[in-house]
Amino acid sequence: MTRVVLGMIGLGTVGVGVVNLLSQEHHLSLKRIAVKNIGKPRPVKPPCLLTADPYEVIDDPEIEVLIEVMGGETPALEYIRRALSKRKHIVTANKEVLAKHGPELFKLARDNGVTIFFEAAVAGGVPLISTIHKGLEANRISAVTGILNGTTNFILSRMEEVGESFAAALGEAQTRGFAEADPSADVDGYDVAYKLSILSALAYGRFVRPDSIYREGIRNIAADDIAAAQEFGYRVKLVGSTCQFSPDKLSVRVQPMLVPLTHPLAAVSGSNNGILVAGHAVGEITLVGPGAGQMPTASAIVGDTINLASALMLPDFASYFHPAVESEWATTADAGEFVCPYYLRMAVADFPGVIGRIGTIFGTHNVSMQSIVQRGVKEKGARITIVTQDVATSNMNAALDELRSCNFLLEIASVISIFKPEFSNVH
Ligand code: HSE
Repeated sequence: MTRVVLGMIGLGTVGVGVVNLLSQEHHLSLKRIAVKNIGKPRPVKPPCLLTADPYEVIDDPEIEVLIEVMGGETPALEYIRRALSKRKHIVTANKEVLAKHGPELFKLARDNGVTIFFEAAVAGGVPLISTIHKGLEANRISAVTGILNGTTNFILSRMEEVGESFAAALGEAQTRGFAEADPSADVDGYDVAYKLSILSALAYGRFVRPDSIYREGIRNIAADDIAAAQEFGYRVKLVGSTCQFSPDKLSVRVQPMLVPLTHPLAAVSGSNNGILVAGHAVGEITLVGPGAGQMPTASAIVGDTINLASALMLPDFASYFHPAVESEWATTADAGEFVCPYYLRMAVADFPGVIGRIGTIFGTHNVSMQSIVQRGVKEKGARITIVTQDVATSNMNAALDELRSCNFLLEIASVISIFKPEFSNVH
């Protein structure tokens, strides 16, 4: 096999995994790795020269493929841009750069006759990108839905299994190396939003600007919600979804949801990811596996690199790998138009007529209750848990705003959407 010369930027946890896996691929020769700090002790002996100057990698004419595993938007964006314009192929795990700059970068790649591989950017070791891009090419995709963040799934699973608070479960995720010291990208839903932008590009041909994606994280999920969910037959999961809302709009959302215990997504536990893809010909498929971590992510990166290296000897192969993405951004539906049942947990003053007044306010805004459970707690008023029927989010919000202005309302502690199986299988 012809020897292919690679360069890499970044040698953190994932980079070390990549170095280890590449050592088994004798036709792939890693020539140089750019790192921030050359002197830093590392758990692997670098197999090649290290440099603190990324341009020594990017501008090296012998390097055909650049593996970018530094992460973050800047300066990675600048390095990828320059490498593409120097006609180097890119293999990256960088969801943030692709989600925010995908239209520009894929155009730049096309214009330069090179390509970008990004299996590792979504769902780590689960081959979701190649499944949608190539395996389901004959399908019109109607929805991609799932658990796309291993850290938050670990935290929610732990809250349920061990009965820990959010803060304690986050601490455990940090101790085990899943969650970063600053966990915001994971727990506030940004990571999933980036992944949904990329999945939308593959499924529907356009990236979605991350700031136009409806986003709620899991910081406010309390042990009481996990317990109440179980009582009602659900499990709390952070669910990301992108689906065709109307001919010209996508509905793209990341939010905690109550998933029925009988649904396959409820069984995805720990740091795993689980994704449902619905296509008009195939129906619905489910992929489950490790969505984060050193070796699963390295598996996706080195898989991409092997694939790319085999194609390098073919004439004009890059176009075969280009996803059919347009330069325009997708248009998204208004978040208020989303319709689902809701779970609500609130505390109210305990006097006659309160439940009746809640019912009247809900009725005024077209919110129909499916069940209501009241537990009296003297000092804090009565704790009420409500499950509604399907309601437009704008109506639910209007009802909650009116409730907030009532003298009997002490607190609206939780408002969580309820997942319905048809969300993942819209046709
Ligand atoms: N931090 C991500 C997760 C992995 O926990 O799933 C990289 O996207």
